Amino acid sequence: MEQITKGKRLILFPLPLEGHINPMLQLANLLHSKGFSITIIHTQFNSPNPSLHPHFTFRSIPDGLSETEASPKDIILLFSLFNTKCVEPFTLCLSSLLSEEPVACLISDSIFHFTQSVAESFKLPRIVFETGGMTSYAVFTQFPLLREKGYLPVTQDSQLEKVVTELPPLRIKDLPVTPKGDPEKYFELCVVIVTKIAASDGVIFNTFRDLEEQGLATLHKQYPNLLVFPIGPFHKCVPEEASSSISDQSCISWLNTRAPNSVIYVSFGTIAAITEAQFWEIAWGLANSNQPFLWVVRPGLVHGSDNWLEQLPSGFLENLNGRGHIVKWAPQKEVLAHPSIGAFWTHNGWNSTLESVCEGVPMICMPCFNDQLVLARYVSEVWKIGLQFENGIERGEIEGTIRKLMEEKEGEEIRDRSLKLMEKANVCFKPGGSSCQCLDDLVKHILSFE
Ligand code: UDX
Repeated sequence: MEQITKGKRLILFPLPLEGHINPMLQLANLLHSKGFSITIIHTQFNSPNPSLHPHFTFRSIPDGLSETEASPKDIILLFSLFNTKCVEPFTLCLSSLLSEEPVACLISDSIFHFTQSVAESFKLPRIVFETGGMTSYAVFTQFPLLREKGYLPVTQDSQLEKVVTELPPLRIKDLPVTPKGDPEKYFELCVVIVTKIAASDGVIFNTFRDLEEQGLATLHKQYPNLLVFPIGPFHKCVPEEASSSISDQSCISWLNTRAPNSVIYVSFGTIAAITEAQFWEIAWGLANSNQPFLWVVRPGLVHGSDNWLEQLPSGFLENLNGRGHIVKWAPQKEVLAHPSIGAFWTHNGWNSTLESVCEGVPMICMPCFNDQLVLARYVSEVWKIGLQFENGIERGEIEGTIRKLMEEKEGEEIRDRSLKLMEKANVCFKPGGSSCQCLDDLVKHILSFE
């Protein structure tokens, strides 16, 4: 395959948020390993470090965001700004690149929906990279129907436990919602993203078929002409590269001192934020569980506070005699692969969920917004590889859930299922595996654009 691609150039346009840019760079590596040349167009906001990827060409575009606008705090507003302010600079940059050499296609993050009409104006094929999973994407495709049937917008608390008849086992409270901002704008954004994907030349997912058979079937049924490429898990297909985030390596030496399968790893990704009250409940729930824990408390995790250290009860860690370790940022994939890790308390961002699946680590689910709500339900009720908090974040429930997962028979069964799924995750990208075959199909598809 490498010889056939003859260094054909692809242009990739990642959304500049950690949970999007990292998998896009992994995808770039995967396609580079197939012989393509790679150009990355990126915004100035959260720009990647080109020196970490010397085999790619980078082009920066001005995003025009002011200091206050350049914040993921109101994510819907940020996405809408990207889709207006980037149009002109992106078009100019693309035009200049196209005048330099032939380009096989554009691969854009799904959130940058404006790129569909720009690509069409240049008659350039556009493939979309959707950073969430197929299961949650299949739910987004149902948004108009969910509104028609009265499930959306979610208004009445009394209805939250009701199962969505069209999408079992999802309940109304598992449907994607936005943490902040106008729900109507969120609805419109989701609908336009889905519409522009339907008009594209294909969609790539960082997932594997065995995990999301049902989501894939729904997509095929709804969009029979849309080409879907589940070619993940990327991080298992290409070697890990240096990251621009500075992770605290102390956690690995700390993990080395703990017993196998004993540590709860706690991390809520890059955007999710919790209240101060929830922060205390988590701290005391972990302390009372008697289980060792490694907790990522990144700056900004607690609403309204950038100083994580000040939030901790005084003497909190000291009183635990080394049973707890707290860092600002962990090398998560390395942590999850460590034999001491027994469970992952996660917000169920797609990358975290997939990374946990790949290491066979059972999950404790605390979804915050968007696709995380769907994923938590699938982890606990469909794949049955985790437990979800059902009654809010309260120290008694936290302690009980941790004990159930770490000490009881139900936890043992969850662990067994997680390990079985891990085995599937580890064969799909090997020769003959579903992701490996799908990647070859994707390469052939790109080469057919000439
Ligand atoms: C968000 C959405 O939640 C997700 O569903 C979407 O597909 C991408 O954007 P985010 O909230 O950041 O992502 O979570 P997640 O998708 O889990 O990504 C977080 C990434 O940061 C993971 O790859 C994880 O390994 C990494 N991470 C997180 C670290 O390396 N160290 C940490 O300490 C915390």
